[in-house]
Amino acid sequence: MIEAKNVNFYYGDFQALRNINMEIGQQTVTALIGPSGCGKSTFLRLFNRMNDLIENTRLEGECVVNDQNIYNRSVDVDELRKEVGMVFQKPNPFPKSIFENVAYGLRVNGNNNKKSVTQRVEESLISAALWDEVKDKLHKSAFELSGGQQQRLCIARALAVSPMVLLMDEPASALDPVSTSKIEELIHRLKTDYTIVIVTHNMQQAARVSDKTAFFMLGELVEYSDTKKMFLNPDKEATQNYITGRFG
Ligand SMILES: Nc1ncnc2c1ncn2[C@@H]1O[C@H](COP(=O)(O)OP(=O)(O)O)[C@@H](O)[C@H]1O
Ligand SMILES: [Mg+2]
Repeated sequence: MIEAKNVNFYYGDFQALRNINMEIGQQTVTALIGPSGCGKSTFLRLFNRMNDLIENTRLEGECVVNDQNIYNRSVDVDELRKEVGMVFQKPNPFPKSIFENVAYGLRVNGNNNKKSVTQRVEESLISAALWDEVKDKLHKSAFELSGGQQQRLCIARALAVSPMVLLMDEPASALDPVSTSKIEELIHRLKTDYTIVIVTHNMQQAARVSDKTAFFMLGELVEYSDTKKMFLNPDKEATQNYITGRFG
């Protein structure tokens, strides 16, 4: 359902991704791991064309979502970003109420039906495991929430427009352990409905949440396999060295 075909990516003269070929199945959680600067975020951002916002970059190859190369000229980037949502390292709620944060994408898409917006906001907050904590203060500012709650709010905001894919770039790295485990539980539950790709520098987290793991190094995909195999019996020595903490 998601696929990278012969992907090379450049920031100016610098090549950040080298001939990446990777298929990601539906309703799986795929973890991207590897040392800082190896290209994880660059690779993730390709799939909702967030790299388009960076000047002087160049992509070769194809990124396929739903049988379509999302870099085809016919692709509407706003439509793509509805299908492929993104959650960042630092929670980034808008300076609006909790309700309006989640309703935002619906309103941008022209849904002004009060009843349907209210219902979708509630569903999204339930899916993001935040509803019980906020249902009595929906019209309070999002900034009154804790960091962990803000991150789940950002996940609810992404879910509201019914994406198929969720891209998460170190979504728990700014959070405390309790909030982190809530996010991990949430990821586990969401994979029945969504395809999730998560960047993490936390090896235990990759092992806990993902079905498949991809190990990147210096812009190359070194190894990609079932998470269990990756952590118990990797094929490559570099993978073994990385997961046992010998570098990175
Ligand atoms: N906007 C940018 N401009 C120039 N180089 C960048 C930019 N973003 C990332 N890079 C470079 O591309 C490489 C991969 O970065 P990144 O994808 O952020 O790695 P990771 O997420 O694995 O830490 C790094 O060498 C980084 O310095
Ligand atoms: Mg990164």
